[in-house]
Amino acid sequence: MNGVGKNRPGVSRRWFLRGATGFAAAPAFVAPAQARPAIMDGVTAGDVTSDSAIIWARADRISRLFVEWSTDSGFQNTARAPYLVVTARTGHTGQIVLNNLPPGKEIFYRVRFDSADGLISGESATGSLRTAGPGRDVSFVFGGDQGGAGWGINPAQGGLRLFETMRATNPDFLVHLGDRIYADRPLNESVLLGDASQWNNIVTPAKKKVADIAVITAIIFWMPLTAAFRRRCP
Ligand SMILES: [Fe+2]
Repeated sequence: MNGVGKNRPGVSRRWFLRGATGFAAAPAFVAPAQARPAIMDGVTAGDVTSDSAIIWARADRISRLFVEWSTDSGFQNTARAPYLVVTARTGHTGQIVLNNLPPGKEIFYRVRFDSADGLISGESATGSLRTAGPGRDVSFVFGGDQGGAGWGINPAQGGLRLFETMRATNPDFLVHLGDRIYADRPLNESVLLGDASQWNNIVTPAKKKVADIAVITAIIFWMPLTAAFRRRCP
């Protein structure tokens, strides 16, 4: 998890236990899709300890970020953090700290954004993580240098296939060693290879220039293709 968009509620704030319904305070009516806050890049967790974790998500507008968690995938009994308002100041990203998690357990979390006035509820997205604990091995993957030296996402080669390969090993977490976005040089749309064939990169506006304050946008460049990995692995 990167350091951009830190926007966390205080750890001393009270938690609320919920019953079987979960997200019980959700507005009752269904609004048109365009009126509902959307989750832009999936969800992800980070900084997992034996009893805490940080959940990250980004909305498409000013909205309220809700996160609840459970030890069962059906969310029969959940605990829920106080909501957090996300704004343009953090690129509509927010981080909520989950506290008092049980050690050595798989934790399922559910994220939702509501409109700023609380009247319109967005779709929810789920993810999971495993807290540290005694009596079991920990497995992790590590890597770095993601899409450097002019080599980006080539759909003809299956995109960022390594993330699916890593996810299939069911690791507890990924240690990313750095060079996540290579914001110091533009990415070309194609590279001529030695055999005269061509490597094609997906190029977004953020990757056509050296990044400035839009670094967060450049990071998000990778997000869609790593969402399946991130929702299961911090
Ligand atoms: Fe590198």
